[in-house]
Amino acid sequence: MSKILLLLAHPDIENSIGNKTIISALNTVNNLTIRDLTALYPDFNIDVNAEQMALAKADLIILQYPIYWYNMPPILKQWFDKVLTYGFAFGSGSIMTHKSILASVTLGSPESSYADGELERLLLPIQASANFCKLNYLKPIASYGIYYMPNRGEMDLKPVLASAEAHAAKLKSFITNFKLN
Ligand SMILES: Cc1cc2nc3c(=O)[nH]c(=O)nc-3n(C[C@H](O)[C@H](O)[C@H](O)COP(=O)(O)O)c2cc1C
Repeated sequence: MSKILLLLAHPDIENSIGNKTIISALNTVNNLTIRDLTALYPDFNIDVNAEQMALAKADLIILQYPIYWYNMPPILKQWFDKVLTYGFAFGSGSIMTHKSILASVTLGSPESSYADGELERLLLPIQASANFCKLNYLKPIASYGIYYMPNRGEMDLKPVLASAEAHAAKLKSFITNFKLN
């Protein structure tokens, strides 16, 4: 059975709606390890050895995060910068070949704001990094309109929750059916 590693990169999961809903729905999935990067490394001091050991065991790596300013949250960028070293992630001795990577992202804006391949363009650094490391880059899973403005007073959160739950179901089904290529 395939081993799956999910890296959660959210700076404030307690106050999250989207990513918290998605992660909660995955708690019972077999062969899935969730690593909450913010909880593990609140000071950004990433344990490279621990992260590389977790990566080495995984067949599928899922990056779970909210899009912030058309980008990934800084803890995930730090993870890329520190963990994907020469001789481990690329170059001679790399262990990444045969693994797959999937970006699973939440976005505040509606889908119409990301028409004409805009999300694919935003995710190009991940796709290019995957190609560089000879990882199999999978089609991302995204949900739009996941936003919450506590300072805007009462807000109907039902559509937001429904969108996050649909995302969770899609991701769970993908994980359950994932087979090594
Ligand atoms: C600092 C910041 C920057 C954001 N930038 C974007 C953005 O560039 N595009 C977008 O669609 N949503 C953006 N959003 C909205 C977030 O993507 C949204 O709040 C998040 O996906 C909700 O997930 P959560 O409930 O797990 O926090 C931003 C939110 C914050 C706080």
